[in-house]
Amino acid sequence: MGIFGDNSINKTEVIGVVVRLTILSAISFFSLKWVLNQIDPTVNQKKKAIEKANKICKRLGLTVGKQLTDYEMVIASHLVDPSDISVSWRDIAGLEDVIQELQDTVILPIQRKELFSDSQLTQPPKGVLLYGPPGCGKTLIAKATAKEAGTRFINLDVSILTDKWYGESQKLAAAVFTLAVKIQPCIVFIDEIDAFLRMRAAQDHEATAMMKAQFMSFWDGLITDQVCTVIVMGATNRPLDLDKAILRRMPSRFNIGLPDQAQRLKILKLILGREPVANDVDYDELASETVGFSGSDIKELCRNASLYRVRDFNRTASLKGPVEDEFQDALRPITMEDLTASINKFKESKFFCAAGFYG
Ligand SMILES: Nc1ncnc2c1ncn2[C@@H]1O[C@H](COP(=O)(O)OP(=O)(O)O)[C@@H](O)[C@H]1O
Ligand SMILES: [Mg+2]
Repeated sequence: MGIFGDNSINKTEVIGVVVRLTILSAISFFSLKWVLNQIDPTVNQKKKAIEKANKICKRLGLTVGKQLTDYEMVIASHLVDPSDISVSWRDIAGLEDVIQELQDTVILPIQRKELFSDSQLTQPPKGVLLYGPPGCGKTLIAKATAKEAGTRFINLDVSILTDKWYGESQKLAAAVFTLAVKIQPCIVFIDEIDAFLRMRAAQDHEATAMMKAQFMSFWDGLITDQVCTVIVMGATNRPLDLDKAILRRMPSRFNIGLPDQAQRLKILKLILGREPVANDVDYDELASETVGFSGSDIKELCRNASLYRVRDFNRTASLKGPVEDEFQDALRPITMEDLTASINKFKESKFFCAAGFYG
């Protein structure tokens, strides 16, 4: 009896100790986790990214949302919803050949996989590079691709890979590819890719170098995997700064150069076609006057010309006093004079910049 009684006391004591230990370790575990969360500056960012990713996945009807890791969710917050993009192929002038080739060699093999499945030669490339001087439509083409390709499109902001704590960046680099494979067909777009993958410099931080190596090795995984449809699409103004190893991974290259006379004519017609323009505007003449202008220069000069009429309107309005007419009625259309004045002003500033007058 005595022995039995002793035993039961021992048992309750042991259970008590075990319970207390369990509670203690649970408390320590959660406090440690809390402290670690407090000192991790990225925790809020991560939370926001995950919330955003959840919303996007829902909107896109992606069912994999719940099976993604936290890292994949951070990358998923960069998924593009095509309905948010206003640019389509019709908003790009003079690059019909490039667009056609892009559609035939990259987009169609993704959309109609079954048509191309009998040949290894017609598989979509795993890397596509858009290169050429600034302001000629590279980002524009990427946006239109996101809108029109009918694939998932990740607009990868590489700063999220490089800003993180040591170790995180490698996991995020890996997550780019694991996510893309889960939601394929998928295009991963990296704008200004030279800034991210330029010749790996000797002064690269060790963590950055490892992240880049990780990125490349996952990319190679894609290249060797014939069934998966994930494409890395990059754009750069400085193709010569790219590592040779990167160029090798992007066999499909599109040169988006400065527009020639015929292309400038198309860009001018596209931009001014949506504006109130006077009958005296001579598009051929404008195209001849804008040799060396990029698409973005042309847009800027048109915007500037359009401002001249607003400026004139304001001047006459302030002379006449308050105007009761409708604003639209009172504003005159853009004239040839506005456009030539704007071109001359633009050439002047271009000359100054090119000559490096301001360093
Ligand atoms: N071919 C083009 N057709 C119509 N607009 C153009 C064209 N090229 C450039 N633009 C205008 O210039 C802007 C900048 O072009 P963008 O694609 O950002 O150039 P980049 O080649 O530097 O990425 C565009 O938003 C667009 O307004
Ligand atoms: Mg760009």
